[in-house]
Amino acid sequence: MDAGAFDWAATDHPIDVLLGEHRTILRVLDEVDRECRNLEGNQPLREAFWQDVLRFCDEFDAGLHHQKEEDLLFPLLETNGLSAAAGPTAVLRDEHLRSKFWRSRMGQALAQRDRSRLLAAAASHVDLARSHILKENQILFPLARRLLAPGELEQLHRDFRLLSADQRLSYWLRPQAAVRSIAAMPGSSGAALA
Ligand SMILES: [Fe+2]
Ligand SMILES: [Fe+2]
Repeated sequence: MDAGAFDWAATDHPIDVLLGEHRTILRVLDEVDRECRNLEGNQPLREAFWQDVLRFCDEFDAGLHHQKEEDLLFPLLETNGLSAAAGPTAVLRDEHLRSKFWRSRMGQALAQRDRSRLLAAAASHVDLARSHILKENQILFPLARRLLAPGELEQLHRDFRLLSADQRLSYWLRPQAAVRSIAAMPGSSGAALA
Protein backbone atom coordinates (compact mmCIF):
# COMPACT_ATOMS: atom_id res chain seq x y z
CA MET A 1 0.00 0.00 0.00
CA ASP A 2 1.54 3.36 -1.00
CA ALA A 3 1.70 6.46 1.20
CA GLY A 4 -1.16 8.08 -0.75
CA ALA A 5 -3.57 5.65 0.90
CA PHE A 6 -3.48 7.83 4.00
CA ASP A 7 -3.45 11.24 2.33
CA TRP A 8 -6.87 11.96 3.84
CA ALA A 9 -5.60 12.09 7.42
CA ALA A 10 -4.91 15.84 7.31
CA THR A 11 -8.15 17.01 5.66
CA ASP A 12 -10.45 19.29 7.66
CA HIS A 13 -13.74 18.28 6.03
CA PRO A 14 -15.47 15.30 7.68
CA ILE A 15 -16.87 13.96 4.39
CA ASP A 16 -13.36 14.06 2.87
CA VAL A 17 -12.14 12.04 5.87
CA LEU A 18 -14.75 9.35 5.13
CA LEU A 19 -13.97 9.43 1.38
CA GLY A 20 -10.29 8.95 2.21
CA GLU A 21 -11.05 6.04 4.50
CA HIS A 22 -13.03 4.50 1.63
CA ARG A 23 -9.95 4.76 -0.60
CA THR A 24 -7.95 2.91 2.06
CA ILE A 25 -10.63 0.20 2.35
CA LEU A 26 -10.82 -0.19 -1.46
CA ARG A 27 -7.06 -0.77 -1.62
CA VAL A 28 -7.32 -3.50 1.00
CA LEU A 29 -10.23 -5.05 -0.94
CA ASP A 30 -8.01 -5.09 -4.06
CA GLU A 31 -5.39 -6.99 -2.06
CA VAL A 32 -8.04 -9.46 -0.87
CA ASP A 33 -9.13 -9.93 -4.48
CA ARG A 34 -5.55 -10.59 -5.55
CA GLU A 35 -5.04 -13.10 -2.72
CA CYS A 36 -8.29 -14.87 -3.72
CA ARG A 37 -6.92 -15.27 -7.29
CA ASN A 38 -3.74 -16.79 -5.79
CA LEU A 39 -5.80 -19.22 -3.72
CA GLU A 40 -7.82 -20.21 -6.77
CA GLY A 41 -4.51 -20.85 -8.51
CA ASN A 42 -3.65 -23.34 -5.74
CA GLN A 43 -1.10 -21.10 -4.05
CA PRO A 44 -0.59 -21.83 -0.32
CA LEU A 45 -3.09 -20.34 2.14
CA ARG A 46 -1.26 -17.42 3.75
CA GLU A 47 -2.58 -17.42 7.31
CA ALA A 48 -0.85 -14.16 8.30
CA PHE A 49 -2.36 -12.26 5.34
CA TRP A 50 -5.90 -13.33 6.29
CA GLN A 51 -5.33 -12.58 9.99
CA ASP A 52 -4.30 -9.06 8.94
CA VAL A 53 -7.47 -8.74 6.84
CA LEU A 54 -9.64 -9.84 9.78
CA ARG A 55 -7.87 -7.36 12.04
CA PHE A 56 -8.39 -4.60 9.48
CA CYS A 57 -12.12 -5.48 9.32
CA ASP A 58 -12.38 -5.28 13.12
CA GLU A 59 -10.20 -2.29 13.87
CA PHE A 60 -10.47 -0.02 10.83
CA ASP A 61 -13.73 -0.99 9.12
CA ALA A 62 -16.02 -1.78 12.05
CA GLY A 63 -14.07 -0.13 14.87
CA LEU A 64 -13.28 3.22 13.28
CA HIS A 65 -15.04 3.87 9.98
CA HIS A 66 -18.46 2.32 10.64
CA GLN A 67 -18.49 3.92 14.08
CA LYS A 68 -17.97 7.39 12.58
CA GLU A 69 -20.85 6.75 10.21
CA GLU A 70 -23.27 4.96 12.54
CA ASP A 71 -22.69 6.91 15.75
CA LEU A 72 -22.05 10.38 14.32
CA LEU A 73 -22.92 10.99 10.64
CA PHE A 74 -26.11 8.92 10.28
CA PRO A 75 -27.82 10.30 13.45
CA LEU A 76 -26.95 13.84 12.35
CA LEU A 77 -28.53 13.23 8.92
CA GLU A 78 -31.57 11.74 10.64
CA THR A 79 -32.02 14.87 12.75
CA ASN A 80 -31.91 16.75 9.43
CA GLY A 81 -34.85 14.84 7.99
CA LEU A 82 -33.70 11.40 6.78
CA SER A 83 -35.87 8.55 8.03
CA ALA A 84 -34.01 6.25 10.45
CA ALA A 85 -36.44 3.43 9.64
CA ALA A 86 -36.68 3.56 5.86
CA GLY A 87 -34.13 6.03 4.47
CA PRO A 88 -30.65 5.41 3.03
CA THR A 89 -29.06 5.27 6.49
CA ALA A 90 -31.30 2.30 7.38
CA VAL A 91 -30.07 0.43 4.28
CA LEU A 92 -26.44 1.31 5.00
CA ARG A 93 -26.69 0.24 8.68
CA ASP A 94 -28.07 -3.09 7.51
CA GLU A 95 -25.12 -3.47 5.12
CA HIS A 96 -22.68 -2.83 7.99
CA LEU A 97 -24.31 -5.75 9.81
CA ARG A 98 -24.02 -7.93 6.72
CA SER A 99 -20.36 -7.04 6.37
CA LYS A 100 -19.80 -8.19 10.00
CA PHE A 101 -21.50 -11.45 9.05
CA TRP A 102 -19.12 -12.05 6.10
CA ARG A 103 -16.16 -11.10 8.29
CA SER A 104 -17.14 -13.76 10.82
CA ARG A 105 -17.62 -16.30 8.00
CA MET A 106 -14.09 -15.53 6.78
CA GLY A 107 -12.80 -16.04 10.34
CA GLN A 108 -14.56 -19.41 10.65
CA ALA A 109 -13.31 -20.60 7.26
CA LEU A 110 -9.76 -19.54 8.13
CA ALA A 111 -9.89 -21.35 11.49
CA GLN A 112 -10.97 -24.51 9.64
CA ARG A 113 -8.47 -23.85 6.82
CA ASP A 114 -11.37 -24.35 4.44
CA ARG A 115 -10.15 -22.72 1.22
CA SER A 116 -13.41 -22.85 -0.73
CA ARG A 117 -15.45 -21.34 2.14
CA LEU A 118 -12.81 -18.69 2.67
CA LEU A 119 -12.94 -17.80 -1.02
CA ALA A 120 -16.75 -17.64 -1.02
CA ALA A 121 -16.92 -15.49 2.14
CA ALA A 122 -14.13 -13.17 0.96
CA ALA A 123 -15.81 -12.69 -2.44
CA SER A 124 -19.13 -11.83 -0.78
CA HIS A 125 -17.40 -9.45 1.62
CA VAL A 126 -15.55 -7.68 -1.23
CA ASP A 127 -18.68 -7.38 -3.42
CA LEU A 128 -20.77 -6.03 -0.56
CA ALA A 129 -18.11 -3.54 0.60
CA ARG A 130 -17.49 -2.18 -2.91
CA SER A 131 -21.18 -1.60 -3.65
CA HIS A 132 -21.70 -0.14 -0.15
CA ILE A 133 -18.87 2.35 -0.67
CA LEU A 134 -20.25 3.30 -4.09
CA LYS A 135 -23.67 4.07 -2.53
CA GLU A 136 -22.13 6.21 0.19
CA ASN A 137 -19.82 8.06 -2.22
CA GLN A 138 -22.47 8.70 -4.86
CA ILE A 139 -25.65 9.15 -2.81
CA LEU A 140 -25.14 9.66 0.93
CA PHE A 141 -22.09 11.91 0.99
CA PRO A 142 -23.37 14.40 -1.64
CA LEU A 143 -26.63 14.48 0.35
CA ALA A 144 -24.68 15.16 3.56
CA ARG A 145 -22.79 18.03 1.91
CA ARG A 146 -26.15 19.57 0.88
CA LEU A 147 -28.08 18.91 4.11
CA LEU A 148 -25.57 19.75 6.83
CA ALA A 149 -24.90 23.33 7.86
CA PRO A 150 -21.26 24.56 8.08
CA GLY A 151 -21.45 24.52 11.91
CA GLU A 152 -22.70 20.91 11.91
CA LEU A 153 -19.87 19.85 9.60
CA GLU A 154 -17.30 21.52 11.86
CA GLN A 155 -18.75 19.77 14.92
CA LEU A 156 -18.79 16.45 13.04
CA HIS A 157 -15.12 16.86 12.19
CA ARG A 158 -14.29 17.59 15.85
CA ASP A 159 -16.29 14.51 16.92
CA PHE A 160 -14.38 12.37 14.38
CA ARG A 161 -11.10 13.53 15.89
CA LEU A 162 -12.32 12.81 19.44
CA LEU A 163 -13.43 9.32 18.40
CA SER A 164 -10.02 8.58 16.85
CA ALA A 165 -8.19 9.93 19.90
CA ASP A 166 -10.42 7.87 22.19
CA GLN A 167 -9.64 4.73 20.19
CA ARG A 168 -5.91 5.36 20.34
CA LEU A 169 -6.25 5.73 24.12
CA SER A 170 -8.20 2.48 24.51
CA TYR A 171 -5.64 0.74 22.29
CA TRP A 172 -2.91 1.68 24.79
CA LEU A 173 -5.02 0.96 27.88
CA ARG A 174 -6.21 -2.46 26.73
CA PRO A 175 -2.94 -4.37 27.29
CA GLN A 176 -2.60 -2.87 30.75
CA ALA A 177 -6.15 -3.94 31.64
CA ALA A 178 -5.37 -7.47 30.42
CA VAL A 179 -2.21 -7.59 32.55
CA ARG A 180 -4.20 -6.39 35.59
CA SER A 181 -6.91 -9.04 35.11
CA ILE A 182 -4.31 -11.83 34.76
CA ALA A 183 -2.51 -10.57 37.88
CA ALA A 184 -5.80 -10.67 39.80
CA MET A 185 -6.56 -14.32 38.93
CA PRO A 186 -6.59 -16.73 41.90
CA GLY A 187 -3.30 -18.58 42.12
CA SER A 188 -1.48 -15.95 40.09
CA SER A 189 1.73 -14.67 41.61
CA GLY A 190 0.39 -11.18 40.99
CA ALA A 191 -2.87 -11.79 42.94
CA ALA A 192 -1.43 -10.42 46.16
CA LEU A 193 -0.46 -7.23 44.37
CA ALA A 194 -3.87 -6.66 42.74
FE1 LIG B 1 -20.77 2.55 5.64
FE1 LIG C 1 -18.30 4.18 4.60
